[in-house]
Amino acid sequence: MITVKTVRELRAAVARARSEGKRIGLAPTMGNLHSGHAALITKAAQRADFVVATIFVNPLQFGPNEDLATYPRTLAADQEKLLQAGCHLLFTPTVEEMYPHGMADQTIVSVPSLSEGLCGASRPGHFDGVATVVSKLFNMVQPDLAVFGEKDFQQLAVIRALVRDLNMPIQIIGEPTVRAADGLALSSRNGYLSEEQRAIAPELYRVICQIGDAISKGEQDFNALLDQGKHQLEAAGLRPDYLEIREATSLRPATAEHSDLVILAAVFLGKTRLIDNLHLNREHA
Ligand code: PAF
Repeated sequence: MITVKTVRELRAAVARARSEGKRIGLAPTMGNLHSGHAALITKAAQRADFVVATIFVNPLQFGPNEDLATYPRTLAADQEKLLQAGCHLLFTPTVEEMYPHGMADQTIVSVPSLSEGLCGASRPGHFDGVATVVSKLFNMVQPDLAVFGEKDFQQLAVIRALVRDLNMPIQIIGEPTVRAADGLALSSRNGYLSEEQRAIAPELYRVICQIGDAISKGEQDFNALLDQGKHQLEAAGLRPDYLEIREATSLRPATAEHSDLVILAAVFLGKTRLIDNLHLNREHA
């Protein structure tokens, strides 16, 4: 695996691979890699011949009071994990390399509707930052396919929409969430949790699954399920930011008539914000 820091080196390395007839797979990350990221690389390596990973903590997608400064940067350990997972090329640009003309006048890619509500409501501008940096990475690498985690369900929907709307010939692959043995979705932000907070964090997925079970058994009163779920989260010491049942493609509020559903939640545990979801496709049940 080689690591490059400039767009020029990145393009040259990708061009070499492409001239050898290789299919290019991309897995964008912000680093501090865990098994969930390794799964993205493994999937890319199964579907492509040349796997490019990127590590870039993108300032454009962080709000003013968020964790940009403290976001864990662990490059040496990340490189080892990427190598083990089958990555061929790692791109670790600086902020200046990604935004050479500054961020204030940067052209922004904005995906309407899908970016509003849920995480978009509590993190204004977040999905514009994601859509912009992902579009830039897509243009720099021009991959045949790109893999993103389903844990960030709304992000995945936003990326699918931007690729469709901007006619980018890139296959987007969603990779299932990797979980700890107690159900907690792996996330770089889990590292912020104290021992006590870590012990109660699995309640998030437990409550989501309980709602999923009730819907699968025929419960149609979604509001009652959500009220009960929020009370359970609060009783466990988690502060719900949102807990919602949405139609899985449009992310619009779901009714009992919809068959493709997703239960999405974000909670605060102290200052740490955790998200998770459960996709429930009743057509294929
Ligand atoms: O999911 C992430 O880690 C980031 O949002 C992404 C897709 C790498 C864009 O910065």
